[in-house]
Amino acid sequence: MKSVLNGKTVVLGITGGIAAYKTPELVRLLKKAGANVQVLLTDSAKQFVTPTALGTVSENPVLTDIFPKDVQGSWTVHIHLARKASVFLVAPATANTIAKLAHGLADNILTNIYLALPPTVPVIIAPAMDTDMFVHPATQANLEILRQRGHIILPPESGLLASGLTGIGRLPELTAIVDKVNEVVAGAKGDLSGKTILISAGPTREAIDPVRYISNYSSGKMGFALASAAQKRGATVQLISGPVHLSPPVGVDLISVESALDMQTEIENRFIKADVVIMAAAVADYRVKSVSDTKIKKESSAGFELELVKNPDILQTLGKKKKKQILIGFALETDNEIEHARQKLVSKNLDAIVLNKANEPGAGFEVDTNIIRILPATGGIIEFPKALKTELADRILDFCLTLSEKNHV
Ligand code: PMT
Repeated sequence: MKSVLNGKTVVLGITGGIAAYKTPELVRLLKKAGANVQVLLTDSAKQFVTPTALGTVSENPVLTDIFPKDVQGSWTVHIHLARKASVFLVAPATANTIAKLAHGLADNILTNIYLALPPTVPVIIAPAMDTDMFVHPATQANLEILRQRGHIILPPESGLLASGLTGIGRLPELTAIVDKVNEVVAGAKGDLSGKTILISAGPTREAIDPVRYISNYSSGKMGFALASAAQKRGATVQLISGPVHLSPPVGVDLISVESALDMQTEIENRFIKADVVIMAAAVADYRVKSVSDTKIKKESSAGFELELVKNPDILQTLGKKKKKQILIGFALETDNEIEHARQKLVSKNLDAIVLNKANEPGAGFEVDTNIIRILPATGGIIEFPKALKTELADRILDFCLTLSEKNHV
């Protein structure tokens, strides 16, 4: 059976209680259920469990510092990690960390990431401590604040405690924690839940003969990033892609196509049910008029001419048919970019067009980053600095969400 944790990122914060010694096993169970586990360790937790053990079982670097020394990039790692989280789990959670979370203190990597979490990320807190500390009105009041905030508090169990006393305060069974994570992730509603999003990606290939074709440099990275981000935010995603070398994003319905005509058929078949369509594919504008059934021999003539015919403009066709759908195109330009993008926006009847340049370093085809501007049909230009395509995918989806709220789609 496919686990709901497959491909999900569990950010696990471990704080300084004796139960921390159990967490390598917790990580192992979460990994077994398919999750990518990113561990955060407070200074006190290091007294009970080592980053080496947790790094080994999680197969990820363990973050222990707001200013990580061995993580490339910068001290803003906590912001990026918070955005990747499918769920934020604190186990064991000490009274001290619970108090910090309740009151918004940010003095270590765990509390920083907590504050940077998007509001859609569910938070599960598993307190574990001595009975007197757990039942203290201060701890109970802090837990109540977290409960009111919508977080899930996993009640500790009763039994023998590290102090030698018996009472409530033991970390629940690890399998119960994993079950809760599963349940929460399965029920988590992203801000795009209930939306069906159709995304196109990659190039199209227009056959010349059985061994040759006309195509372009699109890698599919932009479209795949959009599909993956939309799926993580709860949308039902159908990704129509030309030939690329990327793994299908988890949870996305991938329909592979070759030519512009194939892509048109697959998109049009799904258009009626879509709420949002984003065309990130680089569709070939022309195809060969008559494709040879056999390999064209170079001896057959001195020169070689191909007669090309125009492919249908998929977006333009959708623009004519659209009813409730939000239609987003991409414009790949080399010059007079704003003018050309606006022409496409109007002629294809789009709600917005995402402009990127083919001849700008770090933008367009193949690279992991892009530099985009969104031109909404209502006017204006929204500019974004150079960023990863995975990051920009979320910004494009944020924009679609505001449009859909305005249009009540
Ligand atoms: O895949 P990557 O390597 O990550 O690169 C990303 C990208 C550069 C391909 C992507 O960001 C991008 O710009 N995609 C659109 C490329 C393109 O074909 O642009 P265009 O200006 O030629 O077309 C305008 C729009 O019409 C596009 O949304 C395109 O999908 C659509 N179109 C174009 C031709 C056609 N026959 N039918 C279409 O629907």
